[in-house]
Amino acid sequence: MDGEIVITTEHLVKSYPMGGRHFTALDDVNLSFVTGEFTGLVGPSGSGKTTLLNIVGALDNPSEGRAVVLGQDTRHLSHRGAARLRNEHLGFIFQTFNLLPVYTVYENVEFPLLLLGLKASERRDMVRQALDWVGLGDKVRSRPAQLSGGEAQRVAVARAMVKKPRIVLADEPTANLDAANSHKILRMMVELNRELNSTFIFATHDEKVISYLSRIITLQDGRVVDDALKQPRAA
Ligand SMILES: Nc1ncnc2c1ncn2[C@@H]1O[C@H](COP(=O)(O)OP(=O)(O)O)[C@@H](O)[C@H]1O
Ligand SMILES: [Mg+2]
Repeated sequence: MDGEIVITTEHLVKSYPMGGRHFTALDDVNLSFVTGEFTGLVGPSGSGKTTLLNIVGALDNPSEGRAVVLGQDTRHLSHRGAARLRNEHLGFIFQTFNLLPVYTVYENVEFPLLLLGLKASERRDMVRQALDWVGLGDKVRSRPAQLSGGEAQRVAVARAMVKKPRIVLADEPTANLDAANSHKILRMMVELNRELNSTFIFATHDEKVISYLSRIITLQDGRVVDDALKQPRAA
């Protein structure tokens, strides 16, 4: 696969203490990801998908080995440094949407921009554009409780994409959506992947998500057991 490498993991191990012994959630994971790829970490529940996504998202540290994200070895990042990396370059999408309930749709999407020191007019243009991408320009004043699940996840996609992040990490983003909304969200992400060339990494075991991926990394008991390119379905 061509393109610039944006993430590498080297001999990544994550273990948790468990009753005097330890439980290995990730075991010697060596991967690289390049600009613009649309990839999934696939495997059964408990195989280590979320753990791996959290480490490459600088939300968690490995027990051994290292992750290099956009040239930065995350072991050497301070709390603030990791926060800056996430704020500037990473977008996150979660299974449960994680919108802030007291804020409007507009404010939820604007939120990540408040940390970037942009002018109000720049923020407004970016929020408008992001809400246009997901077709929710008419819902700016709604609050999350007034949205359907599909709409809430589209707001979450807009929030993740508003700063045009280099990397988007999506953990089971369709787990709480019906089939029609799952496909809708996935087609939007394929479009944004093409338009912005952000690297997308999903954690999923949903066949609908898998059908759109062009690379499938299969995890089993914390190990990579397969890493294969495939033809994605047409969006
Ligand atoms: N904080 C933790 N303490 C102990 N075990 C954990 C912790 N987080 C995850 N695990 C375990 O690590 C394994 C992998 O978890 P996870 O990465 O969430 O899997 P997946 O996302 O593929 O379902 C699971 O067996 C889980 O129970
Ligand atoms: Mg998980």
